[in-house]
Amino acid sequence: MKLYKKEGNIVQILCFPTENAEKGDYLMIEDSEAGKALIAQVIDVQFAAIPGVLEELLRTLPDGGEPIQGEDIDPMEIAPHITYIQDASLLICKIRATFQNDVLSPSSSWLPSRSQSLIRKLSIPLLLRLANVEGKLPIILGGTKDASLLTIDASTIDGTLNIITGKKGCGKSHLSKLLMVSLLGYGATVVVFDLNGEYSSLGFSADGKRNMYFDKIHALTPSQNFKVAVNQLHLNVVMGILIHALHLPGTSAREFRRMWKQLKDKGNLTLSSLGEAIRNLNCNQHVRDALSSRYHSLVNSGFFTDTPAEATLLEECLLKANDKGGALIVNLKNTSTIDRQIVVEYVLGKLVDSLSSWKLKAAFLFAEEAHLYLRETYWDDIVTRMRHFGLFTTFVTNQPDTIRENIYRQADNIFLFNFTNEHDLDVVSRAARVDAETVRSIARDLPPHHCLTLGRVVHDFPIVARVRTLDLKTMGETRLFFKNMN
Ligand SMILES: Nc1ncnc2c1ncn2[C@@H]1O[C@H](COP(=O)(O)OP(=O)(O)OP(=O)(O)O)[C@@H](O)[C@H]1O
Ligand SMILES: [Mg+2]
Repeated sequence: MKLYKKEGNIVQILCFPTENAEKGDYLMIEDSEAGKALIAQVIDVQFAAIPGVLEELLRTLPDGGEPIQGEDIDPMEIAPHITYIQDASLLICKIRATFQNDVLSPSSSWLPSRSQSLIRKLSIPLLLRLANVEGKLPIILGGTKDASLLTIDASTIDGTLNIITGKKGCGKSHLSKLLMVSLLGYGATVVVFDLNGEYSSLGFSADGKRNMYFDKIHALTPSQNFKVAVNQLHLNVVMGILIHALHLPGTSAREFRRMWKQLKDKGNLTLSSLGEAIRNLNCNQHVRDALSSRYHSLVNSGFFTDTPAEATLLEECLLKANDKGGALIVNLKNTSTIDRQIVVEYVLGKLVDSLSSWKLKAAFLFAEEAHLYLRETYWDDIVTRMRHFGLFTTFVTNQPDTIRENIYRQADNIFLFNFTNEHDLDVVSRAARVDAETVRSIARDLPPHHCLTLGRVVHDFPIVARVRTLDLKTMGETRLFFKNMN
């Protein structure tokens, strides 16, 4: 390989047919005289446009199908050289770092010698070692192309905002489960908003036997084994649900607050007494109607109960998870949009309460298709306020444009699966920790189950890996009509 051109942080390298390099590979451009090396990643492979090659190609084309008369005369034996040149390729590489005195620095301001530089492939294990990617809490993500493992450190997803995105069915939820159970294994507290009901069975291995996570996984299905006793509800949590999930206007909200306090003082706070109080409320008809419709939404959700014995104490579950590590899986599969918002509002309210009072040290939140239940203001809250309280979110989606732009800007890690759609690629390239060319060029060619890992987990060296399989009962499969039909 030979250095051909450098423009900004892009280098172009001539690669001969005997040396093979593919998109995603890392190269080391060593200038021994300067005593340093550039580390660059191949982001595109093109044919080398060498003057004269086109002419030669045209000349070798069969002339209208007619056999060419005469003998080939090649006294200097240059024909093999010409073919060699024809097959040469040009590698477009992005400079990722400079390696000098055993340290990596992000600079790309120097120019290696064109004649002296030695270019060789840098294997992923060596790169990972140079970049210090592995740590004390390893999580094996999967295998890379050169049959080595991509192992990240759990501490690099601690305190971070992560995005897992890619086309439908390419393995996003699978990766999210892998990260989730790995965190669980290290004793973390995890909360999952499980839209498709596919996380509840992670306590079982693929053959149906209980696994090491069994005791740590608490599946909560709203209105079945997850209910809230009205007299144990805090007023601010109820108000959060009414205002944000059920859009109760201000005047009615004030009326409700007053009524709630009165009933609480009398020690008669139940669903039925609340209904009765609304019916007998002496106020404007609009206010009563507004309250009445919200009240019915609360009752119909089946999520609230007057029987404390039926209620789930979310704080207790969280505390237990805080001590030994545990995951609360909030199953939102068969829940209507309104009920979903009520439940999410309640869970997030409780989480923030527990975190801000330091009952809970920190929690990892996995949110699948969050735009279906997360209210407007929570997006900003998650990147700012909640993050400082210790709530670290991973968004999982196959529609990248449903995630706010500021989330991309602030994201510390992005796990990117295949995307072919230009618009989707555009959205993801807005992420601050990655350049648009890398995203566009590499994500387009990723096979299923392969993911381009970007950001803090790989110390900003984008790496492609095939996500490893999991011996877990995942229940993520799409239901099919023609399955098992011969
Ligand atoms: N790395 C992997 N190894 C083996 N099987 C995998 C891997 N990744 C995903 N799968 C399987 O592929 C199927 C689809 O994966 P998954 O549900 O994770 O996709 P998804 O991207 O979340 O899809 P959707 O967009 O529909 O939510 C599942 O049956 C899953 O078990
Ligand atoms: Mg999924």
